Amino acid sequence: MELPSFVEQKDGLNLPFRIADIIAKKRDGLPLSAEEIRHVVQAATRGHAQDSQLGALLMAVRLCGMDPQETLALTKEFVASGCVLQWPTEWNGVLVDKHSTGGVGDKVSLPLAPALAACGCKVPMISGRGLGHTGGTLDKLESIPGFSPQQSPAQMLEILRSVGCCIVGQSKDLVPADKIFYEMRDVTATVDSLPLITASVISKKVAENISALILDVKFGEAAQSPTLEEARILAKSLVNAGVSLGIPTSALVSNMDSPIGRCVGNTLEVKEALECMEGAGPGDLRELVIHTGGHLLWLCGQASSESHGSEKIAKALDDGSALQCFREMLEVQGVPSDIARTLSSTSKLRQASHQELLRVKKSGTVKLIRAKPIAEILNALGAGRSKANDPINHSVGAELLVSLGQHVEEGDPWIRIHYENPQLQDEQREYLQEAICIAELPCFIPLPLIREIIPSQCNKEDVPAMRREGEIN
Ligand code: URA
Repeated sequence: MELPSFVEQKDGLNLPFRIADIIAKKRDGLPLSAEEIRHVVQAATRGHAQDSQLGALLMAVRLCGMDPQETLALTKEFVASGCVLQWPTEWNGVLVDKHSTGGVGDKVSLPLAPALAACGCKVPMISGRGLGHTGGTLDKLESIPGFSPQQSPAQMLEILRSVGCCIVGQSKDLVPADKIFYEMRDVTATVDSLPLITASVISKKVAENISALILDVKFGEAAQSPTLEEARILAKSLVNAGVSLGIPTSALVSNMDSPIGRCVGNTLEVKEALECMEGAGPGDLRELVIHTGGHLLWLCGQASSESHGSEKIAKALDDGSALQCFREMLEVQGVPSDIARTLSSTSKLRQASHQELLRVKKSGTVKLIRAKPIAEILNALGAGRSKANDPINHSVGAELLVSLGQHVEEGDPWIRIHYENPQLQDEQREYLQEAICIAELPCFIPLPLIREIIPSQCNKEDVPAMRREGEIN
């Protein structure tokens, strides 16, 4: 009997793996072989695995973890599901990218990709959509009319030649397996899995065929890793996988308790990213963009030190060259010229029909603004998805009107919620009020967001065996 192409042979016998057996093995806490991982990834990519099977396997991985060999095998199979991009040899050394493990209000990629391009780098950024309660770069960009994240490898080459950066999504050519697993994780409560995050992030970067990578690994209440220690383990896993697959990779570990910047929600975040590219905008956003970019320029040899790299990025934000690259990128990725060429933080993008201010209930100092409840309510109002492929409402969002460490008086407005349909409900207003923590404290200057750097020359012995996910919680 002729076996279908997705059926693999085992020990020379015509004994195909059965996906149910692979799920059972992982369910029972056993490591999967590279062949078993290949089988399941190929079956998923070719449409031969049922959604229920993939969901069960993801949950088994989420609960039982994967060791570094399995994680690397999964990463390689994600890469092999599509193509590895090919670039002119003269670009060796300047092909770079940044990726974050996901945050609330995290719009860093929007100014950073064009700022790096303005500094002479080539940035073929493959990004994602919102995952869990965190926002996605592609969703943010799609709030700009006409923007298309679907670009073929040939189009990406052209865009990198003419503009220097592009921001695209997974596709049938680019890590299609990650697209399938990523969307399924989002709706099966399996986002916060160390091996799944590692394979998802690093496979995209290996497919990009870049010369250097910087990762922003978030920790905190609104991150996939609640504590600094857990983020450090994830960062080491990511750096180790990147380095093992040939990419000099460093990771920053940064805090994600409060939203980055003042805006959360797709359209509002684009406007704030534009402010950053105009040399203005919130200080914490600018700090992250400058330090992440500075480190990357140093890592790929385009700056003599991190601070030299940071100065170059700051200049690209301040002199308008990053904004110019961003506008050019938008135009070649489908945004009508009249919009792309003039887009600025004051441009009219579609606004939500309703805006409502919430007020602080007591006087004191703003100790914390919790990002997670804000993100959860915005997602319920339509800013995020509850099912893969759900449409989202780009205009839903929130603007913070107060800063950490500032004094507020009872009755001061602290957040403006933008919503349409569904309307903001009373329980949601109450829940949002839990996001602002006011204390009797002197005013203070918040700590810098970046707390640690995991350098590229990561010794493999340093990387602890990946924890079984059950042990984290
Ligand atoms: N970004 C990704 O691409 N994948 C993840 O799993 C998390 C963040």
